[in-house]
Amino acid sequence: MASAWPLSPYRPGNGIDPPYLGDREEQIEAVRGFLRNPRHPRNVLITGLRGVGKTVLLNRIQAEAEASGWIVVDREFSESDAEPHAFANAVLTDVNRALRRLSLSARLRDKAGQMLQAAIDLVGALTVTYGEFKVSVDTRRRRGEPPRRLDDDLREAFTHICELCVKSEYKGLVLRYDEFHVVRERPGALTLSALLSATSAVQQHSLPLMLMLCGLPPVVDNLSRSKSYSERMFATQELGNLRPPEDRAAFVDPAARLGRRFAGDVVDEVMTDTGGYPFFIQVYGDSLWTGSQGETIAMPDLKRLRPRILSTLDAGFFRARYVRASPHERLLMRDIARFGESATIEQLQQASGKRNNEIQPTVSALIQKGLVYRPERARIAFTAPMFGAFLLRTPN
Ligand SMILES: Nc1ncnc2c1ncn2[C@@H]1O[C@H](COP(=O)(O)OP(=O)(O)O)[C@@H](O)[C@H]1O
Ligand SMILES: [Mg+2]
Repeated sequence: MASAWPLSPYRPGNGIDPPYLGDREEQIEAVRGFLRNPRHPRNVLITGLRGVGKTVLLNRIQAEAEASGWIVVDREFSESDAEPHAFANAVLTDVNRALRRLSLSARLRDKAGQMLQAAIDLVGALTVTYGEFKVSVDTRRRRGEPPRRLDDDLREAFTHICELCVKSEYKGLVLRYDEFHVVRERPGALTLSALLSATSAVQQHSLPLMLMLCGLPPVVDNLSRSKSYSERMFATQELGNLRPPEDRAAFVDPAARLGRRFAGDVVDEVMTDTGGYPFFIQVYGDSLWTGSQGETIAMPDLKRLRPRILSTLDAGFFRARYVRASPHERLLMRDIARFGESATIEQLQQASGKRNNEIQPTVSALIQKGLVYRPERARIAFTAPMFGAFLLRTPN
């Protein structure tokens, strides 16, 4: 039977803009302040567990940056881009993209044509150099030529671009990088440290370059390992689940705008199930909207639809996480689940009969995979709400 209601406004998914953006005004306001001040450039680091809405926030602040006249080049990193030559290539490609935008500026072509040409020549040469590196490491380099350093090359390229921005109608350049936790500094090969030191040098000259980086929590460690001053370079925004009353607003408001409401006890129960986790709020909203008919979505609707919601999450969301764990790691997660959604190290020792130093490596591996985290000292919790309950209802 066709529903009398419009299509669901809810948006479960990856980086998809939600109908109501809950609990992010603080973060957006902070970035607006930075964008108004291109002579004192700041960098933003957005971090948090999967599904808390990092990409959505990054997209919003990208839109703010573009609307206020910054050039934004964006990229989603994957493991293969973390490889040193690929990394150099990626960043230089982005510098090229920015240059292409600048070269369309009539003002620049009239007033600073030579500068523009010089930048195009420089960046073009660098791109070729690092491109060649990628296909054949070292062998093609002519003897006697000093090895290139990515930090120096980036600093030079960024300086050119930002000076052009200052002369053009643009405010500056933003590098917007998502999934950036995959990039780690490797011994003997510059990646992160080159990006940070080049950025820092350019910013010290009050040139308008801004990094907007986003990634899972290990990104913080990766950055500070590569340059100890990175803590001072970034305004870090650590995202978590939506806090009351914004969690309820994110759930209730999209329906209300289309003329439907949820019964109070339904809202309470959904808040308990989801813990304010943005992705689950979208999943619940979508299922309840689509699976019911009344103007008021009531408790019988939730009771009827909840098993379907859970089995969908089990087969997709939860299962996808579970299979990333090794047999060892799965056992430890099952031990945690015996105690609910989190457990203390002491409880885990008792449950497994293992000593602390036997448990810790497994915990570390699970943290690296983003499956568990330490909410406080000596306590281990699942990163996704209801994951413990999933393990209990799933035999293997
Ligand atoms: N502030 C928010 N309020 C409501 N829903 C949100 C919010 N942020 C994200 N979402 C929803 O949560 C889901 C995950 O968002 P996403 O940005 O992909 O998370 P992450 O990048 O942290 O993994 C999406 O379905 C999105 O629509
Ligand atoms: Mg994301």
